[in-house]
Amino acid sequence: MSGVAIILGTRPEIIKMSPIIREYERKGDDYFILHTGQHYSYSMDRIFFEQLHLPEARYNLNVGSGLQGEQTGKMLGQIERVLIEEEPRAVLVQGDTNTVLAGALAAVKLHIPVGHVEAGLRSNDRRMPEEINRILADHASDYLFAPTEASRQNLVHEGIPDEKVFVCGNTVVDALFQNLSISEETIDPLKELGVCPGGYFLVTAHRQENVDDARRLGNILKGLERIAADYAMPVIYPMHPRTRKMMEQFGLRAGSIRCVEPLDYLSFLQLEKHAGLILTDSGGVQEEACILHTPCATLRENTERPETVAVGANILVGTDPKAISEGVRTMMERERVWQNPYGDGTAGKRIVEIVGTEGRFTSKGRVV
Ligand code: UD1
Ligand code: UDP
Repeated sequence: MSGVAIILGTRPEIIKMSPIIREYERKGDDYFILHTGQHYSYSMDRIFFEQLHLPEARYNLNVGSGLQGEQTGKMLGQIERVLIEEEPRAVLVQGDTNTVLAGALAAVKLHIPVGHVEAGLRSNDRRMPEEINRILADHASDYLFAPTEASRQNLVHEGIPDEKVFVCGNTVVDALFQNLSISEETIDPLKELGVCPGGYFLVTAHRQENVDDARRLGNILKGLERIAADYAMPVIYPMHPRTRKMMEQFGLRAGSIRCVEPLDYLSFLQLEKHAGLILTDSGGVQEEACILHTPCATLRENTERPETVAVGANILVGTDPKAISEGVRTMMERERVWQNPYGDGTAGKRIVEIVGTEGRFTSKGRVV
């Protein structure tokens, strides 16, 4: 029997698992990383291992891209084989990707206890592949690490026993606190891009419902061009490979928007901190904007991060160019005085402690 298996596969999972990995390293506990290979481009994968000084994955399944079921199915079969071989005492997954669903499903069927980091988020929009993944992963899990009280409530309302749920904050805070000062001491991405604090918009958008739809993606680009002109400020858009692919496929042009390659984490953190405003459909970026006190306009009709809207850090603007422009105006005028709802940066430590308590984490669930 081996230690805890940390299963990950995409950019946000590497970043949000990094505080947990660091904690296992610090304690010298037995654990290993299983990478599905869902993300594989250097700028979406390897760069984060290097920059965050993470150990090599013991396994990389190299599943790559594919249709939802095809990609998830490939992972499921291969993860199962690794888990049978390694017999980990527990499996940890993070977030809402296909990697999370495959990891949780493979483990629960082998009666290996599953811990879901960032449990209980709900957009209530079942067209999102991520919403299906979250619900299924939560219901397959023995330990649910909910970032906030609202996410705990979602789980309890779905009938998940209260004693399986732990409100720990979100490891996104730990990662941000651990890395922002390192970034500030070592690099100057604003200078490299030729922008000044408060003098640019930062954009990320890659959600399937947005970018695989020519009308919605076209509208987002029009909205961005409009705000660039209204404020005479550059729009910096580190572009996810999915979005770049779809722009080419639809023959869409970026116009005045400055599209750049996906950025490394340390550069991206500083750009988030100093942006006049962030526009995004990313989950992690909505959270980071809120933590950094940078106003955010979310290019969606719903969010599984309602805490950011409730504290006044975020507004849902959808993809209509006029609504984008109005939402940006509202947020540019708002005072940046909100509280961070995602905890104090100790989520990773708490999660490792809970998982590590001997005799508590068993195939029959929690033993008190
Ligand atoms: C996935 C997650 C999404 C998460 C995002 C993080 C699912 C269903 N979606 O979306 O929740 O927000 O990761 O960024 O799990 N590609 C590359 N290089 C890569 C990875 C992808 O070029 O390293 C391109 C390929 O053309 C691929 C496309 O991006 O077909 C989509 O990749 P995929 O992993 O299927 O979904 P993401 O959009 O990245
Ligand atoms: N990120 C990054 N470089 C970029 C864009 C995002 O390092 O060019 C980081 C960002 O700081 C956040 C994470 O990637 O921690 C968010 O990942 P993504 O938007 O791909 O996924 P989501 O959070 O929507 O699942």
